[in-house]
Amino acid sequence: MEQIKKRSWAEPFKIKMVELLKITTKQQREKAMKEAGYNTFLLKSEDVYIDLLTDSGTSAMSDRQWSGLMLGDEAYAGSRNFYNLERAVKKYYGYKYLVPTHQGRGAENILSQVMIKKGDIIPGNMYFTTTRLHQELAGGTFVDVIVNDAHDSENLNPFKGNIDLDKLQAVIRKYGAKRIPYICVAVTVNMAGGQPVSMQNMKELRKLTNEHGIKIILDMTRIAENAYFIQQHEKGYARKSIASIVKEICSFTDGATFSAKKDALVNIGGFLALNDKDAYEEASNLVVVYEGLHTYGGLAGRDMEAMAIGIEESVHDDHIRARIGQVLYLGEQLLKYDIPIVLPVGGHGIFIDAKKFLPHVPQDKFTAQALAAELYLESGIRAMERGIVSAGRNAKTGDHYYPKLELVRLTIPRRVYTQAHMDVIAESVARVYARKSKIKGLEMTFEPKYLRFFQARFRKL
Ligand code: F0G
Repeated sequence: MEQIKKRSWAEPFKIKMVELLKITTKQQREKAMKEAGYNTFLLKSEDVYIDLLTDSGTSAMSDRQWSGLMLGDEAYAGSRNFYNLERAVKKYYGYKYLVPTHQGRGAENILSQVMIKKGDIIPGNMYFTTTRLHQELAGGTFVDVIVNDAHDSENLNPFKGNIDLDKLQAVIRKYGAKRIPYICVAVTVNMAGGQPVSMQNMKELRKLTNEHGIKIILDMTRIAENAYFIQQHEKGYARKSIASIVKEICSFTDGATFSAKKDALVNIGGFLALNDKDAYEEASNLVVVYEGLHTYGGLAGRDMEAMAIGIEESVHDDHIRARIGQVLYLGEQLLKYDIPIVLPVGGHGIFIDAKKFLPHVPQDKFTAQALAAELYLESGIRAMERGIVSAGRNAKTGDHYYPKLELVRLTIPRRVYTQAHMDVIAESVARVYARKSKIKGLEMTFEPKYLRFFQARFRKL
């Protein structure tokens, strides 16, 4: 008898409740896409079959989290759930002080206002849309110090999220450490394709920043996913738990912003965590202006309870193995159809290289935006552009930023879709690939001032 190969993972849960999906006709999709101005953000969720727009706030909560909702202590001040959340943040991440916020960008706003002065420089491992905007609104300028490999969709470096320490040193020499309040380190790096940062890099970064008195602030939105890549690919970590790796990453930093809508398996929530008492005092005062009292930060008590439970579930080894296992599975199916994707496959989704998929569509005809629209027209699958539209314009010159990576993100919600859905997604992308030469680009007909990718409108060329 042939040796029976053991599967490396299966979902570590069973399904207790389901949500029915709607399948649309081609005519319905054409109408819906036209009405949405060829922007998948403007589609109605009802018109979507498999929703891969984002992994943000789209996870399925566990029965434990749902029962946590019933334990909401909706007092205005000092809710029991705040203290449960504070305990979870201390236990799993090790930070001393917690300021809850309604989601990640709420924390980015408070952090930027507390730490950034006009003229400051904030280095980071590739920009994220909302993070960079809050830095700019506070008077700072973002400088990218990610390793060059991150900009190459075929480079197989397992830690393409790493900070290039030479680049950082050059930034420090150029501007002086006094103008750099902190470096923002994202784990994993969303815009690079969900690429992780190594522990070695964190250690070296801590050493360098200590020499210059520069703080490290983590964007820990997908930290459990980053920890999985460290466990799988970094020497010395194969036998360590995800929980211990997560805590070790945090130990090299001075604070963090967190969108709990990703790793922490909730539909809404976030926080700012800090170790410095003075910075915390200022942040907990400012949060009152923008979010709510410092013991709820724009959240209901029940939301904080679900978040506290989600944080704990997010660092379970079997959870994260299945989560990333599913993403890898989709990547393998797409590679079988020769679809050009960002490699290695990252944590939260598959990123299609639109420049390689549609080499005849120039970037200023919004290559990835056009591809995302076509995928919806093909099968009702909703993806997201992560290219020139997301990158926006240079505030000084008014020109588009032309990012090297022009990507369509197939983002996988946690604990929501099955392996059969992954097969359907791969087949749908392959069908678009088969007719790629007929796809032309788009023209922008409406451009909002901030974060244009959310609300811009287009028309087919
Ligand atoms: N940082 C990263 C790395 C993110 O991916 C996001 C959100 C945020 C911060 C902001 O958090 O949405 O809770 O305010 N990313 C979502 C996405 C929107 O689809 O990638 P938020």
